[in-house]
Amino acid sequence: MTRHDAIHPAQLAAAAAALRRGELVAFPTETVYGLGANGSDPAAVRRIFAAKGRPADHPVIIHVRDAAMAWRWAGDVPPAARTLAARFWPGPLTLILPRANHVSDVVTGGQGSVGLRVPDHPVARALLQAFGGGIAAPSANRFGRISPTRAEHVRAELGDAVAIVLDGPAPRVGVESTIVALTGPEPMLLRPGFVTAEQIEAVLGQPLARAQGNAPRASGTLPSHYAPTTPLRLVASDELAATVAALSRAGQRVAVLARQAAPVALHELPWIAAPPDAGGYAHDLYANLRALDALGGDCIVAEAVPNDDTWLAVADRLRRAAHEKE
Ligand code: TXA
Ligand code: MG
Repeated sequence: MTRHDAIHPAQLAAAAAALRRGELVAFPTETVYGLGANGSDPAAVRRIFAAKGRPADHPVIIHVRDAAMAWRWAGDVPPAARTLAARFWPGPLTLILPRANHVSDVVTGGQGSVGLRVPDHPVARALLQAFGGGIAAPSANRFGRISPTRAEHVRAELGDAVAIVLDGPAPRVGVESTIVALTGPEPMLLRPGFVTAEQIEAVLGQPLARAQGNAPRASGTLPSHYAPTTPLRLVASDELAATVAALSRAGQRVAVLARQAAPVALHELPWIAAPPDAGGYAHDLYANLRALDALGGDCIVAEAVPNDDTWLAVADRLRRAAHEKE
């Protein structure tokens, strides 16, 4: 199978033409669906903000087909960027670099840096190839809501604002890319993802600083990001059954996202036993949250996940979904 078999050539040509006209095209990546616009057309990028209801000062990531093209968007390419690109691109890693002069303020949110990523998904890659330029794309959800991992999530949430929603193989990762900023004195992790901090540190041979309050602006770093509409509570594994039982007895309509099977006494409740490994759990996370949210109950109870590097991305998304303050 060639790389382009995942998408029909006519559909691809139509999507590239729509981007050239300044329209929005949603497309699958290996992480989540992106809401794409021509990254060199500020008016087109503005449409992304309107469709998402996203504040104008939030920067968007530029997606490109390879590292050589990424560097054209950067004003300076530190050696660490080349090292990380060689090891992790194409793949779920976004690098924040000093911007090139031609990059619009609409893309950077007026900052001196730009986010760059080479996605690893046959449809995203085919679209980048057909379009030729850089595609600005945040996740294809309304601002502050759960990122979409299926074409129908995008259509349901964004509707007519998107000219074309490309279908394709489901994102294999399921949560947004790891973001590393290379704009300060030391590399900094802005958002955990499938590429772990440990992997990055091993490749760089140097520790990653962790984002604090005054770090570069990333909307994924707002505490209440990635939230379902239904309030979500995080509960430790050994307290899960008792907490759910107590809420249920108190008349609350509870839906559960667990990593263990429902006890017999609670088997009538909506209860998802998610995959036991971090990769599988992340892959299903947003579809699971959407499914539980759609039940319209009083609360979602999510079982806490292990406190280690491989689970960091999932723990981060669950904490934000729970609206917990940092
Ligand atoms: O996996 C992903 O990264 C997905 C897919 C579609 O590629 N995209 C994504 O985009 O998650 P978005 O906009 O939902 O999240 C990107 C994050 C935002 O929090 C944004 O603020 C941050 O990256 N970001 C983008 N450019 C930045 C910059 N120059 N400095 C700091 N943060 C930046
Ligand atoms: Mg997003």
